[in-house]
Amino acid sequence: MNKKFVALTAAALCVAAMGTMASAEEKGVIGVAMPTQDLQRWNQDGENMKAQLEEKGYTVDLQYAGNEVQTQVSQIENMIANGDQLLVIASIEGDSLGTVLAQAKEAGIPVIAYDRLIMNTDAVSYYATFDNYLVGKTQGQYLVDALDLENQDGPFNLEMVTGDPGDNNVNFFFGGAMDVLQPYIDEGKLVVPSGQMTKDEVATAGWDTATAQSRFENILSSYYADGTNLDAVLASNDSTALGVVNALAANYTGEYPVITGQDCDIANVPHIVDGTQAMSVFKDTRTLASKVVEMVDAIMQGGEAPVNDEETYDNGTGVIPSYLCEPTPVTVDNYQEILIDSGYYTEDQIQ
Ligand code: BGC
Repeated sequence: MNKKFVALTAAALCVAAMGTMASAEEKGVIGVAMPTQDLQRWNQDGENMKAQLEEKGYTVDLQYAGNEVQTQVSQIENMIANGDQLLVIASIEGDSLGTVLAQAKEAGIPVIAYDRLIMNTDAVSYYATFDNYLVGKTQGQYLVDALDLENQDGPFNLEMVTGDPGDNNVNFFFGGAMDVLQPYIDEGKLVVPSGQMTKDEVATAGWDTATAQSRFENILSSYYADGTNLDAVLASNDSTALGVVNALAANYTGEYPVITGQDCDIANVPHIVDGTQAMSVFKDTRTLASKVVEMVDAIMQGGEAPVNDEETYDNGTGVIPSYLCEPTPVTVDNYQEILIDSGYYTEDQIQ
């Protein structure tokens, strides 16, 4: 190689490197507000968002709020004050961010609601999530099929556990499942011995496992201690399903019920494998993160974010343009392929 060529190449590389540095700096700071590190998925959501945004050259201001609404509000205030250029927010309580997001709007900062819709504020530009209604319907349909309700008269005993009443997703998870189950309840094929059937009666504050467990222990001692069989449990996600599984292990000796879940949390996978939880609905956080990164990139470049639903999610100020990713039902039959072969978990993690 001659000297002139080497010198020219070095100069070109230097210019190219400067160009990359400049673009990384110019790309800007993205605030990512996550609800809590106590529930498994948000750790993955946060890590995936951070890694994928950094790969695109953004600087990431990632915050977790310990499931405290006030902490999340302060974190968002700081993001605005620090000049973050776009906010991605998975809210703790959908209704509690109106005031702080009015400040974001005032400062011209676009907001993407992540996984959970933020309610009653016109500061939300976009929403990205999994199809929450389909999650609920999938859980309900799983129970219908497992109990063969089309052909059996029952009656079968059912109990229900959903999530935090301030999480707008609960309306879709529980609503979707009830749209499938209610006709069988009306027909008398499904019976709910506790009588607890409204969203508020079956809610679990903070989606907390111990809270779900203690409610379920009460149900078991009040309605099943006489040997009544429990046939099915609609649990809206894995942290609440785990509460049910724990309560059953210590307080129930009847025939084991069919239990649903969502997220395929590490703690639940062994239960799916040994049959103490029949299914879970997997929502690959890598998929959601990469879609949100696409949206961020489009908005930051002055364009419009990709959406595939412009009718379902009205946050009280109008419909928010949304991108809905597709959830995947997981059972003992496909967990290996969906969770392990895809690289989401290693074999060791779920032992
Ligand atoms: C999410 C679920 C999750 C739950 C508790 C919901 O908003 O959509 O995936 O299980 O919060 O973290």
